[in-house]
Amino acid sequence: TKTLPSHTSDKKSFGFFSARDRWPVILTGAIDDVHRATSKCTDLEKAEEGKKITQGLATLKYELQHNRDLTPLPDDGSPDIAGYNDELKQRGNPNWFNVSWLYSECYLYRRISTLFALSTYWKNYDVFSQQKMSTFRSSRPAVIELAARYNDLTRQLQSSQSSLAGASNQKREEAEKTLFMEMCEICLWGNATDLSLLTNLSYDDIQKLQGSESRKANEKNILVNNLPAAFSCLKSAQQNVSKDQERRVDIVLDNAGFELFVDFILAGYLLQSGLATHIVLHPKNIPWFVSDVVPKDFSDLLNVLLNAKSFYETPSESDTADGKTPPPLSEKEETDLRQLFDNWSSLYAEGKIILRPNAFWTEAGSYWRLSQTHPELCEDLKSSELVIYKGDLNYRKLTGDAMWDPTTPFTEAIGPLGPGSGLRTLALRTCKADVVVGLPKGVDEKIREERGETGEEVGRKWAWSGKYAVVSFCDGKA
Ligand code: F6P
Ligand code: MG
Repeated sequence: TKTLPSHTSDKKSFGFFSARDRWPVILTGAIDDVHRATSKCTDLEKAEEGKKITQGLATLKYELQHNRDLTPLPDDGSPDIAGYNDELKQRGNPNWFNVSWLYSECYLYRRISTLFALSTYWKNYDVFSQQKMSTFRSSRPAVIELAARYNDLTRQLQSSQSSLAGASNQKREEAEKTLFMEMCEICLWGNATDLSLLTNLSYDDIQKLQGSESRKANEKNILVNNLPAAFSCLKSAQQNVSKDQERRVDIVLDNAGFELFVDFILAGYLLQSGLATHIVLHPKNIPWFVSDVVPKDFSDLLNVLLNAKSFYETPSESDTADGKTPPPLSEKEETDLRQLFDNWSSLYAEGKIILRPNAFWTEAGSYWRLSQTHPELCEDLKSSELVIYKGDLNYRKLTGDAMWDPTTPFTEAIGPLGPGSGLRTLALRTCKADVVVGLPKGVDEKIREERGETGEEVGRKWAWSGKYAVVSFCDGKA
């Protein structure tokens, strides 16, 4: 972008705060995790390698905290390394507190993954997996509430006795639209609880963020809501495309655990309501921004539903420390989760839900580069009726993580993905970074005023917390 990107040198940005306060905490968590796993190793060679990885993580933390230069990534055999290193050179080998936030944050996770990729025994180890699982466990109340809601909906959609069976087309469409908006909003707020922000949130906070009441209360915090336009886009495809033709929706995933769970809720709804015939999910290839989905998280989630009793009734480490035992699941709760497993695993087995990884999603650049560096992926996405980008990082990548004026239209801020691209883009994002676009005039100022965050020297702090959200759509037409 010609507009400058967010930079770690900007002391009032969340980038600076992230580099100084959050990344060291994330690295310490990773060091602890590998240390714990190493101490359980019976294989000596594996344990030795584990120690080496711990050392590599500690070195990275040291370099960050002492503001050293970012060093070229070691070649771990993946083709994206050259891109990272070329870009590092072009950027003049910057140090940690004088570098583009987006590039350096991607570099951080890519560098962590080289430590594992270059080992023999730890190649497939996900250093964030434990954290992802234990946070998912704490989402139990919301998971149970949504499982029951989804199963009811499935029954209604399948039943000819459904209250909508005899309704007029208009009434039916209105009901579909309301449900579409509800499912998307569930999916949106599921993003509020990613693990890289967990340094600020307690488990109680997480549970409060996830229930249906909190969703209603938070509706006013959706500052831009283009869901009606996204619905029209799917509806007109359904009406205009011949019956046996594929109508695909793509979801560029964000976080594992609860967020992936709600992504499945949306995917299942779109398929069962006939708004889409196929859903393509795009995970990451490597552990990314702590909580992002890698392919294994997908099977882990299905396994939780299948073995819900043992998952939810086994005390976590913190339960054991507090002498607590989690309450047993009721028979109804267990059946609801089991039905969800049956429903989602058959959609997957029938090829209606597809997992499609691509290295593009873990490169350092913004999505402005898509058609240049990954023309095949770009063409593939053009054949989708709608590409839904989940979460904050995807939004930063869509908008180049640049310091746009907040009233800049979303269609402009996504550059080559905007008008004329042939891509139908929907961003579902709770705000956890400085960049925000598409706001009506005066909204940024009003929120700043309300929160006492005015003045040149104050950053856009309101946009860091995950409390506000934007849902932005571009139809990609010229
Ligand atoms: O804002 C904190 C942060 O780690 C950002 O660096 C990143 O954009 C985001 O959170 C990750 O959030 P999400 O999981 O929603 O992409
Ligand atoms: Mg994430």
